Amino acid sequence: MTKVVLAYSGGLDTSVAVRWLSERYACDVIALTVDVGQGAEVTQVRQKALAVGAVAAYSVDAREEFVREFAFRALRANAVYEGKYPLASALSRPLITRLLVETAEREGAEAIAHGCTGKGNDQVRFDVSAAALAPHLRVIAPVREWPLSREEELEYAAERGIPVPIGKANPYSIDANLWGRSIECGVLEDPWREPPTDVYSLTRDAAGCPAEPTYVEIGFERGVPVSLDGSRLDPVELVATLNQAAGEQGVGRIDHVENRLVGIKSREIYEAPAATALLAAHRDLEDLTLERETAHFKRGLADRYAELVYYGLWYSPLREALDAFVDKTQENVTGQVRMRMHRGQLAVVGRRSPFSLYDFSLATYDREDAYNHASAVGFIDLWGLPTRVQAQVRRAAASGQKREGLPLVAGGGR
Ligand code: ARG
Repeated sequence: MTKVVLAYSGGLDTSVAVRWLSERYACDVIALTVDVGQGAEVTQVRQKALAVGAVAAYSVDAREEFVREFAFRALRANAVYEGKYPLASALSRPLITRLLVETAEREGAEAIAHGCTGKGNDQVRFDVSAAALAPHLRVIAPVREWPLSREEELEYAAERGIPVPIGKANPYSIDANLWGRSIECGVLEDPWREPPTDVYSLTRDAAGCPAEPTYVEIGFERGVPVSLDGSRLDPVELVATLNQAAGEQGVGRIDHVENRLVGIKSREIYEAPAATALLAAHRDLEDLTLERETAHFKRGLADRYAELVYYGLWYSPLREALDAFVDKTQENVTGQVRMRMHRGQLAVVGRRSPFSLYDFSLATYDREDAYNHASAVGFIDLWGLPTRVQAQVRRAAASGQKREGLPLVAGGGR
């Protein structure tokens, strides 16, 4: 092998991977850092890649595409894994993989590589996404392959002049992007233990939140968030601004004991302020604008969509087909949602839409009522007919009587 493109974060594992790949496979390592809003200084990360031995180091600002084509699609589907996790890490993997593949093709590399372990979901997402996009490319996962313990890895790094974290290394494993931040390991591995406050960095503790609530009005067009408090924002600005505002009010902390695809239960802490607010707002606007049957049918698909994303099947015919359905359902999901955020609590307090299906004259109990109460009686007669027949047969059987002669409808028909 002569060239490998490695997804490089700048952390210890991927830094060691640069050297390990070039030693183990006698190849040139090209580092690729993808900016999905993780907050790392990408130029510095590139410099570090070169310093630890990469022959070239590239970076791509993929924030806009990440939000528009991945996070907002999941939002429109209301995709939340196991009802809790808005899928931040899971959504970034197919995009990073696509950029790895494009770089490999441009550079004439035979393989791509990533820093995932053999225990998590992310390895599955990288490997399966690569299989979908470039089945001819080899995928190498150094951390899954090397026999190094944590101590040996530090030793390996020290021997080769790879900078290692000094003093007490960060006790957590963290992955972040604009859609949220995932934190695991260390004391979090005890599911009984309350997360220490130092795990959080995007959200304030409820006790430290402002005394006054924050109100925000989120505007949607066809299910896509387009404005905050009346000003139009591009997707990256919108999510970043909302992360700030909701995080300030402690919104978006999630403590999840989840079922990994590889069979393990694991405990992860998530911070997803903007995603939490947008998901609540979007669902609420659908309540107003989707007719009942579509709304109920779509609910069933949300879990399935989330599973596909979580299971690494972004590049699958089913995900594409579900998106086609979701797109159709979003035609009228346009309007504004008003939310109140305060001390970790989030509530939708108002919603409106030019396509609102809410009809005051049908819903009201006031004088303006236009609903036909008489038709409710006939409707209930027929709606309840199977129930009534069943009950009559059961009673007749219990008393040894024949059913004949019993009135079929309430009051004996007319
Ligand atoms: N459990 C999450 C998932 O599978 C997050 C994975 C990355 N987490 C981390 N702390 N590095 O999508």
